[in-house]
Amino acid sequence: MILSERSTHVNGAINELDALADKLERSGKQLIKMNIGDPSKYFPTPDYIINAYIDALKKHKTYYSSPNGLYELRKQVAKKYNDIISADDVFITQGISEALMILNSAMINPRDNALIISPYFPPYIPFLKSNGGIPIIFEQDENNGWSIDTDMLRRYIHNMRLKYMLFATPSNPTGTILSKKVIAELADIANDNDLMIISDEIYDELTYKGKKFTSISSVASGIPYIVLNGASKTLDSTGFRIGYIIANGDNEDMRALKSKIYDYCSLRLSANTPAQYAAYEGMRNAKEHKAAVDFMNSAIQARVKIMADAINRLDVMSVVMPSGAFYLLPKIDFSKLDIKDDYEFSRSLLLEKGVQTVAGSGFGAPGHIRIVVLHEPDVVAQAADKISKFCFEHVK
Ligand SMILES: Cc1ncc(COP(=O)(O)O)c(C=O)c1O
Repeated sequence: MILSERSTHVNGAINELDALADKLERSGKQLIKMNIGDPSKYFPTPDYIINAYIDALKKHKTYYSSPNGLYELRKQVAKKYNDIISADDVFITQGISEALMILNSAMINPRDNALIISPYFPPYIPFLKSNGGIPIIFEQDENNGWSIDTDMLRRYIHNMRLKYMLFATPSNPTGTILSKKVIAELADIANDNDLMIISDEIYDELTYKGKKFTSISSVASGIPYIVLNGASKTLDSTGFRIGYIIANGDNEDMRALKSKIYDYCSLRLSANTPAQYAAYEGMRNAKEHKAAVDFMNSAIQARVKIMADAINRLDVMSVVMPSGAFYLLPKIDFSKLDIKDDYEFSRSLLLEKGVQTVAGSGFGAPGHIRIVVLHEPDVVAQAADKISKFCFEHVK
């Protein structure tokens, strides 16, 4: 057998319908693809960032950076967090994806438990399981705007040995933001139970008007924590593959972890150097950055509203209004439809209406589908219309 046992846990929930979609496209069918959260396909990466990339190339900055990343960029990351962390706490990775691979490899032994707040970004599970870890899932409360009942969480994990607690805010796939109160309680729970808190903040700046995001770093003073973030979403440059780990804290465990993260970074030598220079400029030029993010946020909010309003007009679907990112995770009332579950729903919607979404099951949310809302408003309206028609045609 050529494959390792651990590789059996590696799969791609988000891409499950890709083969079918390719086949449909080859047969000439026009699709509206709302399955991948790739903003750079719909909002071109800002010119000032592209120019910084080109400039780095022209100046032949095509060498390896230090394993943990360019000092300028790490310093700039520390600045983003008001210098409550230092450049030495920052490790530049090839996206959060690589950060997850490093952290799980560095922390997880076979049969270690780790707490994952659900619905979740699908790769959290295979990265954990392929190291032998066991996901302990705690559900956010959909009836309460996808918030977390922290009292219930406390009781749920009482006496459990857990390596870490992992969540994303704003969330993929719900687009909701955890309140400052909830984040502070999560920090307390992590502290009381001696588990590492890992906060995935990749959408931190993609928030809608009036919605406030709280970073774990602003409430967890004195408590070790890890923040994951990067260039993909807020710098609108998914293809650069630049992310970072912030590992904050000075206890023995955290010192050991930082040193081990560095070792993992050394194994793969360096993240993409010219892309690091571009990310540096992306963050440094606050004026350009703010203009780009503001533009994206208001455009995305309007697009999300078109889809959410259409969904909430339906009798068989409802959705919690997101506060950031670009996802919707509507719940489907299958008792009213001649469709059995979210897998059949997303597959049939693709086949019959050419709209590609993803079954919620892959995000820990069976009975839901995830819709990525990044297309131009008229395309979003078209897709909403197709989804509505599809539902009408399948009412029992
Ligand atoms: C919550 C979350 N974390 C991480 C990532 C991946 O980030 P990166 O492009 O930095 O690997 C995504 C991508 O969609 C995401 O939704």
